[in-house]
Amino acid sequence: MTTTQKLLHLFYFATFLFLLPLSSNCTDPLGNFCNNSNNITNSQTSANINKVLAELLANASGSGFATASYGSKNDQVFGLAQCRGDVSADDCKSCLADAAERLPTLCPKQADARIWFDYCFLRYDTQDFFGEVDTGFGIFYWNVENVTEPERFDAELGKLMDGVRKQAVAPGSRGLGKGESKFSDFVTIYGLVQCTEDLSRLSCAQCLAIAVANFPNFCLHRKGCRVLYSSCYVRYELYPFFFPLDASKSMVGTSAMTVVHP
Ligand SMILES: *[C@@H]1O[C@H](CO)[C@@H](O)[C@H](O)[C@H]1NC(C)=O
Ligand SMILES: *[C@@H]1O[C@H](CO)[C@@H](O)[C@H](O)[C@H]1NC(C)=O
Ligand SMILES: *[C@@H]1O[C@H](CO)[C@@H](O)[C@H](O)[C@H]1NC(C)=O
Ligand SMILES: *[C@@H]1O[C@H](CO)[C@@H](O)[C@H](O)[C@H]1NC(C)=O
Repeated sequence: MTTTQKLLHLFYFATFLFLLPLSSNCTDPLGNFCNNSNNITNSQTSANINKVLAELLANASGSGFATASYGSKNDQVFGLAQCRGDVSADDCKSCLADAAERLPTLCPKQADARIWFDYCFLRYDTQDFFGEVDTGFGIFYWNVENVTEPERFDAELGKLMDGVRKQAVAPGSRGLGKGESKFSDFVTIYGLVQCTEDLSRLSCAQCLAIAVANFPNFCLHRKGCRVLYSSCYVRYELYPFFFPLDASKSMVGTSAMTVVHP
């Protein structure tokens, strides 16, 4: 697929996503990355990828996070599985199973592959990436609708994001921060961030800072926005999207656009 085709595909997918009822599981990925600079060069690497995926599924499904590695020197594979911390063990498990099934098919030739769902993220690579902040590839989703009172919104969103970022790096948080802020009688902003749990608190803070620093480029005054990096997930919306869900509020999103960066 060309980049344009990919963008179109993601655009249609994003539009579709926003039409889904809030309670349903996301069954299609938000995006994936196959690194063409790191292709599979021997069959042992493929075998090791399968071993790593199996171990990640076994270990992460309960706890929401795992790393695994398999192989030796020339064919060693490192893998990481991360669920969003607010998601149930069942949803985490089915999300990761889906991710592990699709990723090798989406990236059949690459030894560095990553896939993002709303509830989980899965990645493997022949390079040891554990503990490293990686914002080299990112996916941005935003609601095409803009807020009213943009200046006051920016200030309120900034405060909310500061709060959830602090939570995410607090001891015991496991990289998750979430919260809400009442913007007006009718509008509440919901924010959530999740770092991969292999990161130190400092590295987590760094990833989140890079994501939020990109808000002006992709999210400015938007009614909702998502930043998907390999090391952290950042999202805000004007409807509740994280668990426990507030079922009394309905979803107001309409459509979204996506950009893949770089
Ligand atoms: C890896 O494979 C892709 C797709 O087959 C190809 O376009 C790319 O040039 C390859 N990369 C290298 C470094 O050989
Ligand atoms: C992950 O699973 C493997 C077996 O598949 C086990 O040996 C290992 O201890 C597990 N690691 C963790 C952190 O649970
Ligand atoms: C792709 O893989 C190469 C080789 O491992 C690495 O240097 C590069 O940073 C990767 N690209 C991204 C966007 O991570
Ligand atoms: C929202 O604002 C952007 C930037 O100012 C503008 O390009 C876009 O058309 C606006 N969206 C709507 C739905 O009005």
